[in-house]
Amino acid sequence: MEAPTPSTLLEITAHAHPGRRAAVEAALWGTGAQGVQELPGGGLRIWLAADADLTPLTATLRGLGATIEVEPVENTWAVAPEATPIGTGYAVGPPGAPPPPGRTLIEMTGGLGFGHDGTHPTTRLAFCLLESWLGRFPPASLLDLGTGAGLLAILGARQGAHAVGVDVDSTARQAARANATRNAVTVTVVEALPEAVFEAAVANIRADVLLSLLPALARRVAPGGWLILAGFRAAHAPAVAAALPGWALCEQREEDGWLGQALRRPRPG
Ligand SMILES: C[S@@+](CC[C@H](N)C(=O)[O-])C[C@H]1O[C@@H](n2cnc3c(N)ncnc32)[C@H](O)[C@@H]1O
Repeated sequence: MEAPTPSTLLEITAHAHPGRRAAVEAALWGTGAQGVQELPGGGLRIWLAADADLTPLTATLRGLGATIEVEPVENTWAVAPEATPIGTGYAVGPPGAPPPPGRTLIEMTGGLGFGHDGTHPTTRLAFCLLESWLGRFPPASLLDLGTGAGLLAILGARQGAHAVGVDVDSTARQAARANATRNAVTVTVVEALPEAVFEAAVANIRADVLLSLLPALARRVAPGGWLILAGFRAAHAPAVAAALPGWALCEQREEDGWLGQALRRPRPG
C-alpha cells in the first residue's frame, strides 16, 4: 500500500462585524478556497496551500475591519486512512484503503480539490443521485461542472460515459487529472465550459455561482437529457426552477439542509 504524504495547509480564520460578514465571506471565496466554514460565534474559516500569497486577502480584510488569524495545520484530509462509503456501491479513500465489503474503492489522492474525501454533504448528494441516474439512464457523455477533485466525473467515466470535468481552479484541475489517472479512467479536464452538448450533466457548486451558470449549463444538456444539481438550500430552489423553464424535476433529496435534484430537459414538440 502506498502511504499518502502528509502536507501542511494554512488555516485562516476571520472575524468581522456582522454587517461586514458577507463582504468578508466574498473575500475569502475570492482566494480560490474550496469552501468557507462558518464557525460558532460568527467566525469564518478557510484553508489554503502553505505557499499561498495572503497579502491581497490580508489587505482586503483589514480594509473591512476584520481580524485575521493564520495558523499552519497538518492536512489531515490527505492522510485519512479509511475509505468512506458513498452511494450504494462505492467508497472514497486514499490509495490502498480497503473498502467496506461489496463496495468499490474510488482512490483519491490527498490534495486541495473539493470533494476528494467524499464527506461533504453536497458531494454525497450529487454522488448518490448521479450513481442512481447513471445506473438507470446510462449516458454516452457526462459533463461535470465544478469538478473539484474529479470524483463525480470519475464515477461517470467508471460507469462508461465519456466524462468532461470543468473547473476554474487550477489546483482542482490538477487533482482531478491525477485522480482520474489513478482510477484508470479517462476524464477530460478543462477550465471553461466546452461548446458541446452532453446526454447528462452534474453540477455541485455553491448557489450564487450555480445560478449564474445555469443558463449556459442548461444549453449543454441535450433535449431529453438529464441534469443533477447540488450545492444549494431550499431557499434557492425557486430560483433554480426559474432558471430551468420547462425542465421536469424528477427527484429531490436532502441532507443537512442541502438539496440535490435530478431534472430532465424536455424534448421539443
Ligand atoms: C463545491 S465544489 C464541488 C466539487 C466536486 N464536484 C464535488 O461534488 O465534490 C465546487 C467546484 O466548483 C468550482 N467552480 C467554482 N466556480 C466555477 C465556475 N465558474 N466554473 C467552473 N468551476 C467552478 C470550484 O473551483 C470547486 O472546485
